Amino acid sequence: MLNFDFTEEQLMIQQSARDYAQRELIKDVIERDTKALFPTEHVKALTELGFMGMMADPKYDGGGMDTVSYVLALEEISKVDSSAAVIISVNNSLVCYELEEFGTEEQKEKWLKPLASGKKLGAFLLSEPEAGSDATSQRTMALDMGDHYLVNGVKNWITNGNCASTYILIAQTHKEKGHKGINALIVDRNSPGITLGPHEDKMGMRSSDTHSIMFSDVKVPKENLLGGDGMGFKIAMKTLEGGRIGIAAQALGIAQGAYERALKYSKERKAFGTEIINHQAIGFKLAEMHTRIEAARYFTLKSAWLKDQGRPYGTASAMAKYWAAETAMYVTTEAVQIHGGYGYVKEYHVERLMRDAKLTQIYEGTSEIQLIIIARAIMNE
Ligand code: CAA
Repeated sequence: MLNFDFTEEQLMIQQSARDYAQRELIKDVIERDTKALFPTEHVKALTELGFMGMMADPKYDGGGMDTVSYVLALEEISKVDSSAAVIISVNNSLVCYELEEFGTEEQKEKWLKPLASGKKLGAFLLSEPEAGSDATSQRTMALDMGDHYLVNGVKNWITNGNCASTYILIAQTHKEKGHKGINALIVDRNSPGITLGPHEDKMGMRSSDTHSIMFSDVKVPKENLLGGDGMGFKIAMKTLEGGRIGIAAQALGIAQGAYERALKYSKERKAFGTEIINHQAIGFKLAEMHTRIEAARYFTLKSAWLKDQGRPYGTASAMAKYWAAETAMYVTTEAVQIHGGYGYVKEYHVERLMRDAKLTQIYEGTSEIQLIIIARAIMNE
């Protein structure tokens, strides 16, 4: 059965995210971007609204919402402030999901509950200075010392790096086994031996908190192993399948936000005696933007729906992430163009959305990585 209607609950969640974004996030979003300020007060409010662990099971203090609701909420938040959206998506998709899916009951009680309720934030530590797209080439070592792991190495580009109190660390334990020797460990951020690099001064998503994280003889108790020994790479890959739905939703929101601003502007701005939307050059741009966004929306919702149905969604989420990120870049660039000189200054928001869009083509797997995943799936059909 093909049904494009949302449930009452899904629409309520969408409305709640829209209200908060349009009423509160918008107020100081330009200042946060300019000064690269973490949105501390907004994170508190978004926690109270239930967005930090929205998909986790209520028995672990989560919101128990479905992935479709998650997409709807992230789109609304990203229309205004995608830095706030990525804080939410990392905590939900990469940390809460991973703990709920692969953790023991004790681990869920201890680590998932504070994250799903939003009392604490989490971060996912996979990328390294020399292992980004090529994620099996992990150099961070977690040596098995009997009752604990001894961790040494560096992780890079970590979203929520400073604000998180719980890290999911992907590291190599049995080097000779390659990806089958990689483990996923739950790490308390206050463990002795952890230091952080400076806040990364990024092109976009400037108010999200990105750091490199150094591990020097950090002891991680054996009971913090997630899944089985050697399961870390598969756990990371499975987690990223869902993470990419979150980034697709974020890219969709950035594109929709820029499109709405461009549409409004083109109905108000006059040139050559008429509103610029009446010029075919602008009308065609808007039609192309709208059409690409609708396609991105269907891809993203379909991958969310597949996940909610318990069906395979890895290829669908790669397609959604690929198309939504490319669309965000395309649409934001056109939105700046439609605004002309006004598009190039901060006040009109579209230049910020354009800078933010760029990151959606890079993190949680570049566009090129998504094409690898899609190509491999086609080969195996
Ligand atoms: N689920 C489960 N297992 C999977 C899997 C999946 N989706 N994808 C691969 N695997 C398994 C494979 O089956 C294989 O296991 P076996 O040998 O037992 O069969 C193993 O993992 C290795 O797979 P590949 O041979 O396919 O590995 P590869 O080296 O060719 O790489 C890749 C595959 C898809 C390119 C992967 O390296 C990848 O996704 N790279 C991108 C990493 C990425 O997205 N990084 C983003 C960082 S996180 C981030 O940005 C967060 C943030 O802060 C916002």
